[in-house]
Amino acid sequence: MSASFRLAVIGGDGIGPEVTRAALRVLDAAERRFDFSTVREELRWSSARYVDSASRITPEDIDGLRAFDAVLFGAIGDPRAPRGVVERDVILGMRRRLDLFVNLRPIVAYDDRLVPLKGKRAEDIDLVVVRENTEDVYGQTGWVTGAGKDEVAEVPMRFTRPGIERIVRYAFELARTRPNRHLTLVDKANAIPVQELWRRIFDEIGEDYREVTRDAMYVDAACMWLVLKPEQFDTIVTTNLFGDILTDLGAAICGGLGVAASGNIHPGQVSMFEPVHGSAPKYAGKGVASPIGSIGAVALMLEYLGQSDASRAIEDAVRGGLQSGRIKGVEAGSQKTEEVANIVAMAVAG
Ligand code: IPM
Ligand code: MN
Repeated sequence: MSASFRLAVIGGDGIGPEVTRAALRVLDAAERRFDFSTVREELRWSSARYVDSASRITPEDIDGLRAFDAVLFGAIGDPRAPRGVVERDVILGMRRRLDLFVNLRPIVAYDDRLVPLKGKRAEDIDLVVVRENTEDVYGQTGWVTGAGKDEVAEVPMRFTRPGIERIVRYAFELARTRPNRHLTLVDKANAIPVQELWRRIFDEIGEDYREVTRDAMYVDAACMWLVLKPEQFDTIVTTNLFGDILTDLGAAICGGLGVAASGNIHPGQVSMFEPVHGSAPKYAGKGVASPIGSIGAVALMLEYLGQSDASRAIEDAVRGGLQSGRIKGVEAGSQKTEEVANIVAMAVAG
């Protein structure tokens, strides 16, 4: 019997719905070729809905996602809504409420012409960032006290031993399957002494993975080396905030935000997959946004669901399309969204 998966689809705002629709065309092709199916339910969660009806996504709404195997998410963000409110309800809400503690962000350059670094080629950029996704300064409100010149804004940078242990272990497990079996911890333990806890746990757990070589780097240096010598990286494990920053830089060295995809994972439970880019309101409804990030999210989702052949076929189709020049670029406006989806879907269909 062929596998079937329950899939929640949240297009969201701006270009989210159109890139998601395009990515689902690629999923259709993968289902036909690789003999599995999905039962899809579309959820209308968006800032636009908040603007129209002031309705918020609640923790109970998010609990409803547990009925699914995976969530394919587009983007949230609308300039008419107050900054960050709906993003926090939906994106950070899913990550925390569903305890999606792994944020898996591959940084892979598909073609030389997308690489903006002087003297570097696509083959020099192939790494994966494992970003902790539930702790740190994220998902806490903090507090603002005092008034006038006495105003103070504070939020704790909070890490727990179990929170660090599970992400570091996940990263070592991943690193042992990677080409160079190398794991780099990225932190700022010199200026932020509480991050010494990451170093200690990294070394403790590293002893269980003798086949994986390891090193540690401060985040400022990691940014520099990502630009100067990306080939030295294989797998990176890092905190929530640093992972956020590092992966936008990572996307940039692969051609831009339009190319990157992200898995928000709790192994064995419902997990969420999304492009790294946002809702890009200025391109919404024009059919010119690149669906590559969203297609990459589908590939990550299929890998997570155990459909590795389908996942690889999608990756290969994207790489092939970009290398042959049939896919013209990964920036909005390079080509019609639908046209890119068709090129990838046809290649996946075989
Ligand atoms: C990301 C985004 C989010 C984050 C925002 C929208 C809250 O930038 O997924 O990288 O900071 O994690
Ligand atoms: Mn980000």
